[in-house]
Amino acid sequence: MTAPNGLAFLVLAGIVLMLIAGCRHEPFMMAEDDDFMPMDTTVTVIDTMSNDTTQVPCDSTKVYFEQQILPILRSSCAFSGCHDAASAQDGVVLDNYADVVRTGDVRPFDLSGSDLYEVLVEEDNDDRMPPAPRSRLPADQINLIATWILEGAENLMCDNSGQGCQTTNVSFAATIKPIIEVNCQGCHSGGAPSGGIDLSNYAGIKARAESGQLLGSIDWQAGFSRMPQGGAKLDQCKIDQIAAWIAEGAPEN
Ligand code: HEC
Repeated sequence: MTAPNGLAFLVLAGIVLMLIAGCRHEPFMMAEDDDFMPMDTTVTVIDTMSNDTTQVPCDSTKVYFEQQILPILRSSCAFSGCHDAASAQDGVVLDNYADVVRTGDVRPFDLSGSDLYEVLVEEDNDDRMPPAPRSRLPADQINLIATWILEGAENLMCDNSGQGCQTTNVSFAATIKPIIEVNCQGCHSGGAPSGGIDLSNYAGIKARAESGQLLGSIDWQAGFSRMPQGGAKLDQCKIDQIAAWIAEGAPEN
């Protein structure tokens, strides 16, 4: 037997022993990461993971659930009549980490085993999510969700508030449009956009910028509905960037 095989055998034996011991004393022991299956809802695995989360500066090579995945799900899935906690269609709730993983049947590192991903790429138009007549999620959002699952579907969040916030020469294409795409377009696009407000293109966004509704709603000012509806307030840097862009005349730059 070669050395690597011997090592593999030892590791395997160790895992078997752990499993046996686990079965005897601790029925809900957390499995090895790649065997992780959120089968039993009484397990506190998910809470344990979220408690581990501390605010760290954002690293552009990682996908952060709180900053990047949850806003997409809130905007495109977790609203009234669909997958918010009150509606919970098919028992699926997509407005917080624990429920996303459990009810969306997310299996870390396993794309095809994760229902949350499978429904996005489902070829049958009758079975895909979001259902017609809503459009499919844009490819970059589907890819982000895939990357998140393949990186382990963790509940990571980051905080860039210490890094400064660029509010000069704010670009519509590079900064404003991506913010709106992720946080607003799930509701404010398509044939029947929420509130009759279409934010899927420059003209629509500019119109709401000029009417004062865009800033009023994201800055949660009196007299405006708070946006994103049902979600957390955008982080202050994004609000400041949108405010700065509007102050410069909302250019298509
Ligand atoms: C979950 C769905 C949903 C999301 C996500 C969402 N909206 Fe809305 N929005 C609505 C609905 C429904 C209305 C109409 C009812 C109301 O005003 O509350 C609305 C109304 C508005 C209005 C009019 C508010 C007013 O008081 O005049 C603006 C502006 C707006 N949204 C902007 C945004 C922006 C910007 C985002 C992203 C940061 C966003 N919305 C995200 C559902 C959503």
